[in-house]
Amino acid sequence: MARILITSAIPYINGIKHLGNLVGSQLPADLFARYMRARGNEVMFICATDEHGTPAELAAAKAGKPVADYCAEMHEVQADLARGFRLSFDHFGRSSSQRNHKLTQHFAGQLADHGLIREVSEKMIFSIDDNRFLPDRYIEGTCPNCGYDSARGDQCDNCTKQLDPTDLINPHSTISGSTNLEVRETKHLYLMQRALRDKLEAWIDSKTDWPVLTTSIAKKWLNDGDGLQDRGITRDLHWGIPVMKGDQPWPGMEGKVFYVWFDAPIEYIAGTAEWADANGKADADWERWWRTDKGADDVTYYQFMGKDNVPFHTLSFPATILGSGEPWKLVDYLKSFNYLNYDGGQFSTSRGRGVFMDQALSILPSDYWRWWLLSHAPESADSEFTWENFQASVNKDLADVLGNFVSRVTKFAKSKLGEAVPEGGDFGPEETALIADLGARIRDYEAHMNAIEVRKAAAELRAIWVIGNEYLQAAAPWSAIKTDPARAEAMIRLSLNLIRVYAILSQPFIPDAAQAMMDAMGSDDWTWPADIGAALRALPAGHAFTVPENLFRKITDEERADWQQRFAGTR
Ligand code: MF3
Ligand code: ZN
Repeated sequence: MARILITSAIPYINGIKHLGNLVGSQLPADLFARYMRARGNEVMFICATDEHGTPAELAAAKAGKPVADYCAEMHEVQADLARGFRLSFDHFGRSSSQRNHKLTQHFAGQLADHGLIREVSEKMIFSIDDNRFLPDRYIEGTCPNCGYDSARGDQCDNCTKQLDPTDLINPHSTISGSTNLEVRETKHLYLMQRALRDKLEAWIDSKTDWPVLTTSIAKKWLNDGDGLQDRGITRDLHWGIPVMKGDQPWPGMEGKVFYVWFDAPIEYIAGTAEWADANGKADADWERWWRTDKGADDVTYYQFMGKDNVPFHTLSFPATILGSGEPWKLVDYLKSFNYLNYDGGQFSTSRGRGVFMDQALSILPSDYWRWWLLSHAPESADSEFTWENFQASVNKDLADVLGNFVSRVTKFAKSKLGEAVPEGGDFGPEETALIADLGARIRDYEAHMNAIEVRKAAAELRAIWVIGNEYLQAAAPWSAIKTDPARAEAMIRLSLNLIRVYAILSQPFIPDAAQAMMDAMGSDDWTWPADIGAALRALPAGHAFTVPENLFRKITDEERADWQQRFAGTR
């Protein structure tokens, strides 16, 4: 039994996430967590909401709510949707928690003690009418690079160039619209990432088994001319974690908070501490996941995220960890994803284009989405959601292949042989061949899951479902029952057992359907089929089963057309 720590990039608090966000981190992380648990490992799976920064403040202002209230409400909304999608977090924390305040201040203090923080006097835009500095998204203007007229203070959404608020042409406050702005001096803390460059490079170079997508992004940032810059880790905002040196005040930093990207990844650790608090555990219980001096040296740590998050997780967060001089766990394997596009364009939160998590669950149960998203995960390249493809996958893979197998076997068995596993004779050559084929395919499936090759694992699972159908078609118990009833009984005995095995193998992808299959087989034995021959004898003759409700329904052409219309834009 291994110990597996899994974190998903923590979603921003401002608004409900779309399916592209979901498949880029939380959903594949859940797949892996479920699989690792199913294999008998001890798993800690942590996610949280990312609650600081200008997007949170602006969204709260737009909703007309105090930002703390807004975050508390949106956290519940996101937690609810996570439950709806059956995301099996051990804890879904909040980056605004007291645990994260303390840990973030602790890390900043450690970094300062190790000489890795310097103070920089900066020129920032101050809004006289708003009586505040305007960092990042509080200021908009024309991009000096491409001329786009709504570029934000930190980045141009049109040409993606990283900007400083002072770069903008004709800037205005996004709070009041005021152009009554002036440049003022303000002091900020910088994390001296450059001093850690060699250590970071050696660490990244040691990760020879990482996906190319991950290492190529990390190396690009490490080696590009303006790659690994020292990085401002404080902001002139009200909402956030107050700048402190451990538990001491930080002279000159009064009224400032840490930058959201400094405190967000620390929430992975803080979220595990929140898990301990929520479950009446001691500090030692979460520290054994994170501190190599307190038992975490045998933990393997996996992170999941979209590609835009890779630089922060391969450079900035490791710089915080390494620079602290303390024995915190660094990530062992970083799985990153490309983007999922939507029906010939991009998902757009601002334009409401695409399907959002709440909408998805309002039209179909989570398994339908989980299956499509995971089997089309944007791994080697960006991938695209189309309604045609979604309809085809659901109708074929889930309804025609898996659902049909379960329904044919159980209905036939019930009507001809009764609601108990029949006796029959020994397995014959067809069954022996099927068992050999299944065994080999399950080993492939395991290999893909261990390697977090999500699409390949889905394809292998689908193939495992298909060979059950092919077996049934070839063996034809509905004919055999007329000539050789004992043979037909053996076939059905095997097929009913196969439904239980399918439940176990499919559970990481489609947990609700898996539970329904297991319930129908009157079992709660989820033991992984390490020995498939034995697993197909687990339900003995005489064991009662029931015919489940139809597992999956088909999507009609009318529904498809209707949904395509409905989600085309402007929520
Ligand atoms: N909120 C960020 C995003 O959605 C991800 C933060 S991951 C973190 O892109 F852990 F670093 F916080
Ligand atoms: Zn631009």
